[in-house]
Amino acid sequence: MRAAIAAAEVGDEQRREDPTVNRLEAMAAELLGQQEAVFVPTATMANEIALRVLGEPGDEVVAEQNSHIFISELGGPAVFAGLMTRQLRCVAGRFTPEQLRETVRPGDNTHTPATKIVSVENTHNASGGRVWTLDEVEAIAVTARELELRLHLDGARVLNAATALGIPAAEIGRPFDTVTLCLSKGLGCPLGALIAGSSELMYRARIEKHRFGGAMRQAGIVAAAGLYALEHNVDRLADDHARARRLGEAWAAAGLPVDLELVQTNFVQLDVSALGLGEEEAVETIREQGVLLSRTRPGVLRAVTHLDLDDDDIEHASAAVPRALGTYVPV
Ligand SMILES: Cc1ncc(COP(=O)(O)O)c(C=O)c1O
Repeated sequence: MRAAIAAAEVGDEQRREDPTVNRLEAMAAELLGQQEAVFVPTATMANEIALRVLGEPGDEVVAEQNSHIFISELGGPAVFAGLMTRQLRCVAGRFTPEQLRETVRPGDNTHTPATKIVSVENTHNASGGRVWTLDEVEAIAVTARELELRLHLDGARVLNAATALGIPAAEIGRPFDTVTLCLSKGLGCPLGALIAGSSELMYRARIEKHRFGGAMRQAGIVAAAGLYALEHNVDRLADDHARARRLGEAWAAAGLPVDLELVQTNFVQLDVSALGLGEEEAVETIREQGVLLSRTRPGVLRAVTHLDLDDDDIEHASAAVPRALGTYVPV
C-alpha cells in the first residue's frame, strides 16, 4: 500500500482532474451497485453529506437507536442537515418493516414533521458488527419505497457484511439511495471513505463536500491506498472473521462473558461488567498482557481483528486475556 501511495498519479481533485481519485470513485460505484461515488476523507463526513442531500431541515431521519449517525457523530444530522432524529429500539441493530411503518410520520398536517429518510447500518457496530441479511435489507427497502422514504446505508463495513453473507456488496448497496463505505477500517487505509448514489445525488454530494471543506487537491496520494485496498484487502476480510470467531470461542471456553451469537464478523465483545470490572481497569489489565481492546459501550470492551493481526496474535490473545482477567482454565 505504501508503494502504491508513493507511485500514485495525481491531479487537482477539486476539478476532478486526479486520475487516481477518479479511478477509485468509479471502482467504488460499481462495487456498491450505484451509478457514481464521491471520495471523502472520512465515513462520518460521508454519512453527514448523504443525510444532507437526502433531506431538508425539519425532516425526520429514522434509524436504530445506537446507530453511528446517532451516537457517534455529535448531532451532525441536526447540525448539518437540520434533521429531526427518530430512534428505533431494536435487537441486534436491525429493525423490521412493521417497526418502520409504525414509526413513520406522514407529515400530512401543519404540526408534525415528516419522516423522509431511513438509515440502515450494515454491519451494525454497536451490536457487535452484526449483519443485516439481504432479505432483511430488501424488506426494509420495499417498505421504505411504499412510504416514500429515502434510504441511506451506513455501509462503513458493508464489505464485512458482504463477506459474511457470501454475496457481492453491490447486492446489498443497490436498493439504497446513498451508501457510505469506509476505507480506513478493515480495509486498512490511513484514511478515506466514499459516498455512492445516483449521478444526480452525487452531483449534490460534490457540492456539499466542497461546503464541508472536503474537496481536496492531490488526493490521489490517499486514493491510491483505497484502490490498493479494494484490489488486495477485500478477500482477506474472511480471515478476520474466522479469527474473531476463534478468539470468541477461546474466550467463551475459558469462562469469559462472550456472547458468541454476536460474533458474526470481525468484532468480539467482552462484557467486563459481568466480571465486576470497570472498563478502564479491564483495558489496563489486558494491555499489560500485550493485548489492546477498546471500550464499545458501558461495561463492554471490543476486540477487533484486522490485517495487522495473524494466527499467532490470536493464539496469544486467546490465552492472555483470560489469564489477565483471572478466569483462565488451562486445558
Ligand atoms: C458504522 C460506522 N459508520 C461510520 C463510522 C465513521 O467512521 P470514521 O470515524 O472513519 O469517520 C464508523 C466508525 O467507527 C462506524 O462504525
